[in-house]
Amino acid sequence: MSESSTRVVADEVERALAGLDFDEVKKTYWNQNEFICLERWLPAAIVGRMVAEVERVRPAVHRNYIPRHKKGGSVSFYTLVEQAPTILALYRAPAFIRFLANVTGQPLQPCPESDPHSCALYFYTEPGDHIGFHFDTSYYKGSRYTVLVGLIERSSSRLVCQLFKDDPGGRPLVELQLATHPGTLVAFKGDKLWERNLGPFISQHGPGASPILYKNLLIFSMDKDAHYDTVKKGKLVPDPATLYAFDKKTGKSVWEKPREALRACYSVPFVLERAGSQPELIVTSTTAITTTVLVVDSTTPRRLLSPSIRDRRDDRSPSPWSPSPWSGKR
Ligand SMILES: [Fe+2]
Repeated sequence: MSESSTRVVADEVERALAGLDFDEVKKTYWNQNEFICLERWLPAAIVGRMVAEVERVRPAVHRNYIPRHKKGGSVSFYTLVEQAPTILALYRAPAFIRFLANVTGQPLQPCPESDPHSCALYFYTEPGDHIGFHFDTSYYKGSRYTVLVGLIERSSSRLVCQLFKDDPGGRPLVELQLATHPGTLVAFKGDKLWERNLGPFISQHGPGASPILYKNLLIFSMDKDAHYDTVKKGKLVPDPATLYAFDKKTGKSVWEKPREALRACYSVPFVLERAGSQPELIVTSTTAITTTVLVVDSTTPRRLLSPSIRDRRDDRSPSPWSPSPWSGKR
């Protein structure tokens, strides 16, 4: 990659970042369910160099047509590596990656170079060119984030984005129609399946329990302290302990079971399967060890197996063969 491209991009990205209210950008990104559009953000100097590279690679455009999905052209990463140093320099610019990592709150890295679409140019230049609604699904381990940068805008078509689609929290869908003007940046998380906010965790330490997957369910035991102050035992924590079963695909609650709370507990539920019996869900908490006949659409606690620790936080998780190697009593 040309050294001058790397330096120009580094300088221009720094200048563009200095002009942003970072806290506001981050807030908007999260308020929009991990989506942000920065209108004409990239400085003209860098956009001009990138547009010159677009013209250089235009003869290499590969057009394709997939009925009912897309029609348009693209230039792959391999061509850009050879002929578009500024575009590559932006894709790899450490300050740019750092900025995106700070907005998303995730350590980010470029896609594997074997992926021809890791960094690519897309040409919607002929009548009828389009791409239908889709998710930018991650085919890698971990999440995938997409950054789109507008370079040439001479179209009446718009980038249509649906925010909060199938939102498990019930937020209404918001549809945006965006013009990708030169320098406009759009960044979003490729495929967020779902997210549930279970509220603040009240205890001396943070939450430490893990969920389990069983058939169509994601089962999670949330046990907080029953009182904001466990010594004075004054104000009660609202809804301190609940056993949740979410639909693993949508995050919607299949069932929720309030439980007695005392001190926070960090146990991982366990499903016991035995021949000839219905599966049982076994859960420990500070106040009890319970089993439940597990059916996917409802649950009823069946019996108390034993009294619990009663006065301390419970770190134990049930196991089929033996007690946990360490039982915390603090
Ligand atoms: Fe896409």
